Amino acid sequence: MDETAKLIIDGVSYDLPVLTGTEGDKAIDIRKLLSSTGYITYDPGFGNTGSCASSITYMDGERGILRYRGIPVEQLAEYATFVEIAYLLINGHLPTQDELNRTRMILNDTSMIHESMHVFFQAFPRGSHPMNILSSMVNALRGFYPELYDHDDPANPEYTYLSLVSKVRTLAAMSYKISKGDKVIYPRHDLSYCANFLNMMFDSPVKPYIIDEDIVKALNVFWILHADHEQNCSTAAVRVVGSGKVNLYSAISAGVSALWGPLHGGANQAVIEMLTDIHENGIPLETIIAKAKSKKDPFRLMGFGHRVYKTYDPRAKIMKRMADKILSKFRREDPLLDIAKRLEEIAITDPYFVDHNLYPNVDFYSGIVLRAMGIPTNMFTVMFAIGRLPGWISQWRESINDPHWRISRPRQIYTGEQQRNYVPTSQRI
Ligand code: CMC
Repeated sequence: MDETAKLIIDGVSYDLPVLTGTEGDKAIDIRKLLSSTGYITYDPGFGNTGSCASSITYMDGERGILRYRGIPVEQLAEYATFVEIAYLLINGHLPTQDELNRTRMILNDTSMIHESMHVFFQAFPRGSHPMNILSSMVNALRGFYPELYDHDDPANPEYTYLSLVSKVRTLAAMSYKISKGDKVIYPRHDLSYCANFLNMMFDSPVKPYIIDEDIVKALNVFWILHADHEQNCSTAAVRVVGSGKVNLYSAISAGVSALWGPLHGGANQAVIEMLTDIHENGIPLETIIAKAKSKKDPFRLMGFGHRVYKTYDPRAKIMKRMADKILSKFRREDPLLDIAKRLEEIAITDPYFVDHNLYPNVDFYSGIVLRAMGIPTNMFTVMFAIGRLPGWISQWRESINDPHWRISRPRQIYTGEQQRNYVPTSQRI
């Protein structure tokens, strides 16, 4: 017999269907709640709300599990390339050799940016944040490449999705070069996806960039770890904005904007700023921990805590190992890594952090890895965005093909004034 949940309101009993996911997760189906009872649910921040059914990413926050299309992220970080992951997320299976060759060919064919877009870049005021530029430029792609667009699944979806994956990488590197006033470096067909990005970022006509395979590998892992994370803030934004049947580019641009916030992807920049502040001003770590615990202080320990993970974020474990590896390869020391490790040691044994299940998340060590690669701090969240792009695209694609699709339109509990009359200006006191 199908499982049901019983809800009793004012002595009247309602049976609500229970849905079960492939990993045994349960949800009470309340789709008919309002029409049958007159009640809505109240869940600010959607912590208890399943907004969709999805077959893309599985997370178990209690056990620290993350899988893309069923495959553990640890295996993918060890063996796969980011291009394979993009294919896996968007298409549901790992590519065969032929599919991979074709994917690489499309990524190369679509890597250039319309020359008129350069003018756009030049018009941004100096000092504009690269996330600001990226979200505008992604939206602008709709105007420059109208042939790729269709609000329903496009005629050639593979081409549309991969061209976006390719162009966003080029846009990101261009925005960095232009922000510095340097010559833009074009993509090269002989380089892998990750090496190509590094080359566009750091090559120059007067000083060729020497591609280091260990840095390329580290970037590959960094992007794999960020590729999808089920219904997080930016992905939910992509789905909500996309639910109005807006084009793919505008939906993704909304995702980029949502990611920018310091509580979400912007945390990687905020962590480095926090660690730098501690380092440069010699702030005792106990003071930082006390500030994070104080209910009178809005400060939070950046890079700690997660809505879903109530244990160590599996991505943070890999990122921490990578930070050690990449710094030891260059025989470099980063005082921020030592501060981060000491902060972690104090926090994970502190009763406040233990009771609140607050552990390092992916952003705690990722900035240290990016610094070691030479990526400037204001580009950190852009790096997250490039990684998350295949996830956003796959989630958007799944949502527009969902037979249960409806425009996203939550309800509210109204707490304002009851009806009252308009008062003419002369009679107002
Ligand atoms: N430092 C101190 N206290 C914290 C922190 C923190 N980093 N995070 C949560 N808390 C406390 C919070 O004060 C609250 O305490 P109490 O119940 O006593 O009032 C409790 O933990 C629950 O917090 P919440 O804000 O209700 O939790 P949430 O699930 O809504 O927020 C979060 C999740 C990630 C926004 C939050 O943990 C946070 O602000 N962390 C710092 C920012 C950060 O590192 N963000 C990156 C997240 S991972 C990358 C991504 O996917 O975006």
